[in-house]
Amino acid sequence: MKKRLAILPGDGIGPEIMTEALKTLSAIEKRFGHTFTREEAPFGAAAYFSHGDPFPEATKGICDHADAIVKGPVGLAVEDMKKIPQDKRPEIGAILPLRKRYNTFANYRPVKLPASLAELSPLKPSVIGNGIDILMIRELVGGIYFGKKTEGTETGMKYAFDECMYTDEQVRAIAKVAYDEARRMKVKLTNVHKSNVLATSRFWNEVVEEVGKKYTDVPYASVLVDNAAYQLMKNPGQFNGVMLFENMMGDILTDQAGGVLGSLGLMPSACVGPEKCYVEPAHGSAPDIAGKNMANPYSMIGSIALMLEKAFGLTEESDVIWKALFAVLNAGYRTAELKDTSTPKDKLITTTQFGDMVVKDIAVK
Ligand code: IPM
Ligand code: MN
Repeated sequence: MKKRLAILPGDGIGPEIMTEALKTLSAIEKRFGHTFTREEAPFGAAAYFSHGDPFPEATKGICDHADAIVKGPVGLAVEDMKKIPQDKRPEIGAILPLRKRYNTFANYRPVKLPASLAELSPLKPSVIGNGIDILMIRELVGGIYFGKKTEGTETGMKYAFDECMYTDEQVRAIAKVAYDEARRMKVKLTNVHKSNVLATSRFWNEVVEEVGKKYTDVPYASVLVDNAAYQLMKNPGQFNGVMLFENMMGDILTDQAGGVLGSLGLMPSACVGPEKCYVEPAHGSAPDIAGKNMANPYSMIGSIALMLEKAFGLTEESDVIWKALFAVLNAGYRTAELKDTSTPKDKLITTTQFGDMVVKDIAVK
């Protein structure tokens, strides 16, 4: 296979974890005989300072011409972000426009922790039980994130509001994605919402359940978001399968899932639209550890695995990457944020060493 990729390394730890992800991709090219040409482009806070725009026109052009986009985390420390005007900050000025541009409505965030790695979680091994294997699916281009934002003053009172809206078409599209995945994986689907309060949630459930009529073979559960947050700590394995969220609930609970795993560094993601897919880690740019060769590249490398599967249908190649990532962790190696007092000194690895080990594992057939 020959494909063209846009590479957006981003800010903070972005460039260093991207290096490991691309090393991994090269190992896949070599083993399977594929060619992924790469064109790098500025995106994020650094792009604002160099080009006056966090998503410069030239970057848009490169992304438009690419078959898929590989994006690193963006953003700076709070103090440095203040130097950027609100509408040019990477979240509002780059990430959301990127999602909108390619209508990447389906966000896949796998949450994987085999029982053998239960010690990584801050939860007790007995709570991790037989392991966690949840595919969180988040609607990514609707809801409160993209609704109208208003700030004003009326009769001396200041106010602000954010509109939250979903159309039946939007809900149907993401519900189909979630049901199809659950059917393919032969697992249950848990739909998360706040229907005891929100009109958008009641509407969401109606549409999801309507779609569900064509998926009677898929076991279905429905849970309120506050209870889902609680249950995720008490017994995460009960959600093994697919979980479906609207945009903001998915933002919050996928971070919580990173906490359950023991690190946001273990949260890759893919954002899939009708024509284009981009991948990114679910975490931020961790400016405090940038340039120290200590960030965990798992989420960036895992994002490559997701891209191969979701954008190009290369499931064997994707599986080979997952296997390599878990081989490193199962051999006891830990990047700094995952180590604890029981981690032997010789098992503490750098960003580069993690990537090297993954590459080595991929090279062995
Ligand atoms: C994420 C991030 C983004 C979001 C931010 C950076 C806009 O937190 O991808 O989860 O809220 O979607
Ligand atoms: Mn988030």
